[in-house]
Amino acid sequence: MIDTKIIRIPPDAELSLIDEALMPAAEIIRSGGLVAFPTETVYGLGADATSELASKKIYAAKGRPSDNPLIIHISTPEDAEGYTYTNGVYYKLARAFMPGPITVVLPSRETVPEATRGGLATVAVRCPSSRIANRLIKLSGVPIAAPSANLSGSPSPTTAEHVMDDMMGRIDCIVDGGASEVGLESTIVSVKSDDSVVLLRPGKITVEDIRALGIEVEIARAVTESLREGEIALSPGMKYRHYAPGAEVVLLDGSPDKAISYISARSYSNYAVICYSEDISQFESALGDATIIDFGNRDDMKSQARSLFDILRAADKQSYDIIFAPLPPTEDIGLALYNRMIRAAAHKIIRL
Ligand code: TXA
Ligand code: MG
Repeated sequence: MIDTKIIRIPPDAELSLIDEALMPAAEIIRSGGLVAFPTETVYGLGADATSELASKKIYAAKGRPSDNPLIIHISTPEDAEGYTYTNGVYYKLARAFMPGPITVVLPSRETVPEATRGGLATVAVRCPSSRIANRLIKLSGVPIAAPSANLSGSPSPTTAEHVMDDMMGRIDCIVDGGASEVGLESTIVSVKSDDSVVLLRPGKITVEDIRALGIEVEIARAVTESLREGEIALSPGMKYRHYAPGAEVVLLDGSPDKAISYISARSYSNYAVICYSEDISQFESALGDATIIDFGNRDDMKSQARSLFDILRAADKQSYDIIFAPLPPTEDIGLALYNRMIRAAAHKIIRL
């Protein structure tokens, strides 16, 4: 067991205060240790990306398969030059979205240790907009390799409490900077040689946002479908079961009326229903024995994104037998919700 140091930074803290509070965390990164820190998407579990040994510690702490590569976090887009071969599309994306919740996969330079890129010839770079994340990278003086700071297979953490639940005693330090603003992991795109991109993981920066820059976007099949037997994942992380709570999760594609008749036709006793705020009273009066969980307003997908992982983690603690949830639309940020929710549900979708 490691003695995990907790550093608390108020979300509205001044920059000088942030820097002062982060000094010990930056020192831990420099000396090869592990620090969990907030980003605008989810909390990351960081280590010196240039150190083979430090990167290996991340896999051990998470229980993560070592062929699943890490994202390198940098404090300005130009820092990608040291670790990747950039191109025009990278800078087009960088000018539009960085710092911010986008990750770009590019050919790797020799400077990136094998362990950081999971043995691939490419590497993923991201420049976070979170002030705490950005300052931590700067103060450490090295790029920070960081996956989400959860145990492998559980939902990504969006608060320091989530990180503590998974990582206390396993890592050197947790920086508590409050709840993550986006709540879902960054959008990941891979740049192809013809300057088009492949969307590997949807996030707050949407396909529509990227197309608006005049960049052609192909959506990888694994974003919306399950991998076929023998199919190779473009992004190694896609092949692992993700965000899966202990309970069975079932997505219902249809109106609240139809969902209610589907559920009440079966006799569940220990179950929960995630529903939009507008439908709460209807579900509550029809399904008296269910725990009803508020997912936010139907049209407020940003708020749904912010709360999804917290809802899944909280539901996990209640050990329901089954959890029902609405199937999100696949437009805009809905695609990111859809992608995470079909994984949590292991692709169990009921068309009502
Ligand atoms: O928002 C985020 O991206 C968060 C915060 C902490 O920055 N990080 C994050 O990391 O979600 P992680 O490791 O949980 O997810 C990164 C995904 C994995 O599925 C991994 O397989 C994929 O990115 N990935 C990393 N490097 C890659 C590469 N070179 N080619 C393809 N996929 C890659
Ligand atoms: Mg992750």
